[in-house]
Amino acid sequence: MGLSLRDTLIDEPAKRPHSRARLEPLPSICKVAILGFGTVGKAVTELLCCSPSLQLRLTHIYNRNVDRKRVPWVPSQVRWTDNFDEILASDVDVIVELVGGVRPAGDWVRQALCAGKSVVTANKHLIATEGDELLELARKANQRLLYGASVAGGVPVLCGLEQGLAGEKLFRLTGVLNGTCNYILSQMQNEVVSFTTALARAQEMGYAEADPSHDLGGFDASCKLTILARVGLGAQPRPQDVYSRSIEGVEAVDFECARKLGCTIRQVSLAELRGTQLYAAVQPALVPLASPLAQVKDNQNVLITAGVHGGETVFSGRGAGGGPTSVAVVSDLVSISRPESFLGSPNPRELKAYPLNHDLESPRYLRLRAPKDADISYAVSRVLSESGVSVHSVLQQSASGSMGSAPVMTLEPCRLSNLEVALERLQKLEHCFAKPLSLPIMN
Ligand code: HSE
Repeated sequence: MGLSLRDTLIDEPAKRPHSRARLEPLPSICKVAILGFGTVGKAVTELLCCSPSLQLRLTHIYNRNVDRKRVPWVPSQVRWTDNFDEILASDVDVIVELVGGVRPAGDWVRQALCAGKSVVTANKHLIATEGDELLELARKANQRLLYGASVAGGVPVLCGLEQGLAGEKLFRLTGVLNGTCNYILSQMQNEVVSFTTALARAQEMGYAEADPSHDLGGFDASCKLTILARVGLGAQPRPQDVYSRSIEGVEAVDFECARKLGCTIRQVSLAELRGTQLYAAVQPALVPLASPLAQVKDNQNVLITAGVHGGETVFSGRGAGGGPTSVAVVSDLVSISRPESFLGSPNPRELKAYPLNHDLESPRYLRLRAPKDADISYAVSRVLSESGVSVHSVLQQSASGSMGSAPVMTLEPCRLSNLEVALERLQKLEHCFAKPLSLPIMN
């Protein structure tokens, strides 16, 4: 059903009543419908209702069981509905998709484009998995599909890569791309709260995904890295190809040890072209305190691009939450409503299917957990050396407390494949009672 519907619609966009040529100006007032009245939907509604000078008029709000969502501050002319077909049949010019997820959001975006409506979305999961096809459909339908809010919230990274750095040959993108993880880790760094409390606060503030394991485990950032790798590097990874590790094993003791090394801990996203291969990973890592990666606090994000000609460029700002994300959504709406400011589709970088390689060498931090009185140092050294991994320095042999001892060491640069063999064996040692934590140390 889905496929045949798409095929029909792709072939026939010109027959649809609201279809326009690409540069044909929109009416002076651009009518907007919002799908999804959650944290971001509410914030976009506030911006649109408070900024009449922007030539954008909110006409419809869609939500499931819409009656429980109604708020008195939305002007009475705005129509609330739980029927998407009503919006499709209306004269709205742009549909803002904020329902999230791939289904039904993807089908609605397709239907909107084919009905002659442009689309603005904050949906990184959808763009990372079906973006190519949807952008092609938008092109065929002479509509625009903008997704600036899908990466880094209010920080204009996508237009920065597409337009500001169009002349650069980028080879590396390094960033902190998930506000929830950054909020948790920077709160833990300052010893303000525990992991669990920080996560609960991130959820209250509307930073976290409906399923927060998408934040913690790296899937959210993998979707964002996938989009960035395409726009910035011309690579085509899928979110599931990105090597990802959860931040959930990180404890207060790891921040203490990181500080001794002049570092802190962040969830780092890295996509790098190395020869003919692409390395793409999202994982907690030690980052030097002086690095821009360490400077981002709370819900902030940062992206550091590295290019052959111009070196490094840093983008940073608030990456999650209603306020920042609504700014990115409304900026895309303004771009659509002002065709005179439309530069045309930026020249996409030439896309290549780079094979992925995760087996890179890097120095590492290693922390174990053992009973307070157990001496596991000999067994640990033996496992490491048999796995081809050398210890660089021992930071602490043990730390007291109800959690037992926490031997911590740094490792000489080693391949991930060797390390994974060692970790599996360490976990099985008689006195190791928790999964060892191993983090790359970024330079
Ligand atoms: N859950 C996401 C984050 C929301 O924490 O970054 C913004 O994409």
